[in-house]
Amino acid sequence: MTKLVYLTDSYKKTLVSKISTITKQGNQWEVILPETIFYPQGGGQPSDRGEIVGKHGKLIVTHVRMRDQDVVHEGKLNGHLKTGETVTAHIDWTSRFDHMRWHSAGHVLHEIIIQTVPGLTPAKGEHGKHAFIEYRGDINPKLKETLEKQTNMLIAEGRPIHTEMVSLEDLKKRVSWVPEHLPKNKPLRILQISGFAPTPDGGTQVKNTSEIGQIFVSEIEQLGETVRVHYHVSDLTKAPIQPAIKPSAAPTNQITLDAFRSLLLEMQNQLLELVSKTASTQLEQLKVNYFGSHGIATQLIKQLKDLPQLDRKTAGILVNEFKSSVDQAFTQQLNNATTKEVWFDVSLPGILPPEGHLHIVTQAIIEITRIFERIGFSRVRHPEVDWDYYAFESLNMPPDHPARDEWETFFIDHKFPSPLKGEGQGEVHKGKIVLTPHTSNGQVREMEKGKLPIRMINIAKCYRRQSDVSHVPMFHQFEGLFVDKNASIGDLKGVMDYFFKQYYGPDRKSRLRPFHFQFTEPSFEVDINCGVCLGKAHLPDGQGCKLCKDGWLELGGAGMVHPNVLKAGKIDPDKYNGFAFGWGVERVAMMKSGTQLDDIRLLYSNDLRFLEQF
Ligand code: FA5
Repeated sequence: MTKLVYLTDSYKKTLVSKISTITKQGNQWEVILPETIFYPQGGGQPSDRGEIVGKHGKLIVTHVRMRDQDVVHEGKLNGHLKTGETVTAHIDWTSRFDHMRWHSAGHVLHEIIIQTVPGLTPAKGEHGKHAFIEYRGDINPKLKETLEKQTNMLIAEGRPIHTEMVSLEDLKKRVSWVPEHLPKNKPLRILQISGFAPTPDGGTQVKNTSEIGQIFVSEIEQLGETVRVHYHVSDLTKAPIQPAIKPSAAPTNQITLDAFRSLLLEMQNQLLELVSKTASTQLEQLKVNYFGSHGIATQLIKQLKDLPQLDRKTAGILVNEFKSSVDQAFTQQLNNATTKEVWFDVSLPGILPPEGHLHIVTQAIIEITRIFERIGFSRVRHPEVDWDYYAFESLNMPPDHPARDEWETFFIDHKFPSPLKGEGQGEVHKGKIVLTPHTSNGQVREMEKGKLPIRMINIAKCYRRQSDVSHVPMFHQFEGLFVDKNASIGDLKGVMDYFFKQYYGPDRKSRLRPFHFQFTEPSFEVDINCGVCLGKAHLPDGQGCKLCKDGWLELGGAGMVHPNVLKAGKIDPDKYNGFAFGWGVERVAMMKSGTQLDDIRLLYSNDLRFLEQF
């Protein structure tokens, strides 16, 4: 493991050591020392060059690299070197010092960039001849001159640069950004330019920014989501350095009022543009970057003291104008942002769209259908607006029969041309058109299909001129029709008991009351013990509630199909018989225990407070 001397002393140009190993790899020789002043290539900085000189020969070091924890000095061997031999290492100071200046320049530029452009994430850097710093984010290319100028100003201030060896734990605590790939084979170090936050760094650095020389920002290159700021540093061997502003350590009164005014104006223009493009959340940071104690604008304003005494008053006025115009821009941008930008907290729970559910009647229709399907009944559909013939006449209720009155039917007052092409080819005019008052219109329609035996369940809307606690003008019925040979009242009773138990459970009571329907003989009405009264123990037995009156609620009618109806359906009553039943869906649903619904009209009041309960 090679000790990296350059980490703690980057100005050491020679070192006496002993060769740990010397090997030949092809044309190249490789020397490993227990300690080195040579910088091995890495972290964006090129490797050092130099010589390792022994008694009878020297290695011309052309490249240096890390191999595990050893530093390998590669190069050409002139003469002989051997393991264990004492040697003196010399680094090529010109190129090393250049690398140091380029690398430190990168760090100063970085500080200026992150202060000027909030919201950037550092990605990587190159500090050799094609130097750049890369960030995730955007930098307006127009900032090139500003960045260059500010960096040169900072460089000229002659700020000390400190380095310090640290543990990984310490590093993580002290720096705000830890690179994705920290070296595992080298000790860790942080670098701090006086007045700025510490940052991880393992390169060779100058001790003071004034040693860097002049920096040039050559390009701001946006590459999709990343942006590269390319830079280079003045060549010390050529023209003398022309710092934009002399370091503060330099003699005072070196800046003229005109220069100060133009610097101030330039910064004002750039800042106004920057403010107008900065999001409201970043404005405060931008202000600190410019006007904080180490801020860029603060540094410029401090130059006021370097002006000739006579010019300072005028310069003070200029500074005040500068500050108030920038202040105004900040306030205006903040106001714009509050009206333009709609901020939302992504961690807040979302606003759920109201979730609907099936209406209680639809739920009942689905359940009723399933119950009957289990015993072989199939759901069918017959018209809800139909001929008088199917609603009445075919059901043994000739025109003017008094039984029709019970149905309080809505007739449609319209004369149809005859013969009418309606549902089914060749269908002819069959009396008036009615809004079906019951689903029994499906009985003869089903028989007309000519398929026997019949096990239908017809669920549809019905209409009657009725409205009270147990009646609505539009309601639903489910019509059961069973036609086969040898059907009996026992079968009817069995089917009804089965439905009761499936829908209401084993404990509800039902009863059949003899009744009269024109289309069934014998006929019954079916009642259930009222579900509303069940929950109200205070009601005396048999008194009932406002819905049922006597503790029982009628659910529907039933009976054995009348022979005349079978005949109307072209079925021979001597061979076939059957039973039918027609019950109200709403009433059936209302009687389900727990529903506690004592007014049927609530179902269609469209009141969400009511509907959401089911
Ligand atoms: C009839 O409608 C017969 N078609 C039933 C039938 C079918 C008997 C097959 C024999 C054979 P009724 O008019 O009683 O029956 O009505 C049956 C049921 O429909 C009623 O018990 C009730 O539950 C429901 N019903 C009737 N009118 C309304 C209404 N206006 N609002 C709500 N439900 C109603």
